Amino acid sequence: MALYARVIGWGGYLPEKVLTNDDLAKQIDTSDEWIFSRTGIRQRHIAAEGELTSDLAVKAAIAAMDRAKITADDVDMIILSTVTPDNTFPATAARVQAKLGIKGGAAFDIGAACAGFIYASSLANNYIKTGYAKTILVIGVETFSRIVDWEDRTTCVLFGDGAGAVIYQAHEDDSDTPRGILGYELHTDGRLYDILRTDGGPSETSSMGHLTMDGREVYRHAVTKLVEVSQSIMAAHNLAVTDLDWIIPHQANARIIAATGERLGLPEDRTVLTVTNHANTSAASIPLALMEMGHKIQPGETVLMEALGAGLVWGAMVLRW
Ligand SMILES: CC(C)(COP(=O)(O)OP(=O)(O)OC[C@H]1O[C@@H](n2cnc3c(N)ncnc32)[C@H](O)[C@@H]1OP(=O)(O)O)[C@@H](O)C(=O)NCCC(=O)NCCS
Repeated sequence: MALYARVIGWGGYLPEKVLTNDDLAKQIDTSDEWIFSRTGIRQRHIAAEGELTSDLAVKAAIAAMDRAKITADDVDMIILSTVTPDNTFPATAARVQAKLGIKGGAAFDIGAACAGFIYASSLANNYIKTGYAKTILVIGVETFSRIVDWEDRTTCVLFGDGAGAVIYQAHEDDSDTPRGILGYELHTDGRLYDILRTDGGPSETSSMGHLTMDGREVYRHAVTKLVEVSQSIMAAHNLAVTDLDWIIPHQANARIIAATGERLGLPEDRTVLTVTNHANTSAASIPLALMEMGHKIQPGETVLMEALGAGLVWGAMVLRW
């Protein structure tokens, strides 16, 4: 019997406060026209004072657990992806576990920036396939508003806060068209560490620092690497573009999504775009896209997810819903 990690629930949470491009234009030298034409972003959500990464994560987790119709007792692992944790340690996942009333199993964080949801899901897949865990809560959550430099117009306009969660459950499936995660591909190139990073951290400066980025370089690598990894995973699973029912890219920038889609020949009407209202929520962006459109995906449909982030790290995942 083959075990597959099947999506049985998903949900998300966006903080109440919305910051539009026009709002930003009152604070820094920018404009809605500049931001929208280069990124496709119109607005972003910002966590309230005192609203923590773990608070966002808990709300997304509850939404996903409700949809999956499971309770705290059913969850035997939490894998939380974030690079904006409540504290340097312990893991934010531990706090989320307590807030959700989950008493057993393992809960830990992973940091793979904007590719975090794919990295976390790949781990969930492995724990399920080996029979170690049955029901895993994967959360992608960020409060980038706390690490951007609000005076740096080249970066602060790009990011937003939010959380998304998915429940994966083990299902035995020996059919020719098993439902669940079919495969993933992960990459890292640490030589590109400096093109997107924070300029602080507990070890390097003992302060938190701010996000810094060479936007042009990130853009260039994003398009090339996302095209390569998408082609590679499709080939590995004998999938043609016409076999894909949905493409859910990491939502960093509408131009990256369009350029990648064009090179791959992906259908625009099947490519999810939420960056307009969410901006770049890093690890949360793919599960937040699911929050918006997951109800449209039919059982048995094929979904391609791809993402790239600081590291650089990038990856793709194919699943049958
Ligand atoms: C950031 C990004 C939108 C910038 O677009 P770009 O076309 O490369 O723009 P440039 O960096 O060449 O900047 C052009 C000009 O706009 C200015 N500018 C930058 N940010 C601005 C803003 N928010 N408002 C107005 N002007 C701005 C620059 O200062 C520059 O002015 P100059 O020519 O006088 O120096 C683009 O590089 C990008 O999307 N990169 C990928 C970023 C990303 O997605 N990162 C996360 C990946 S997970």
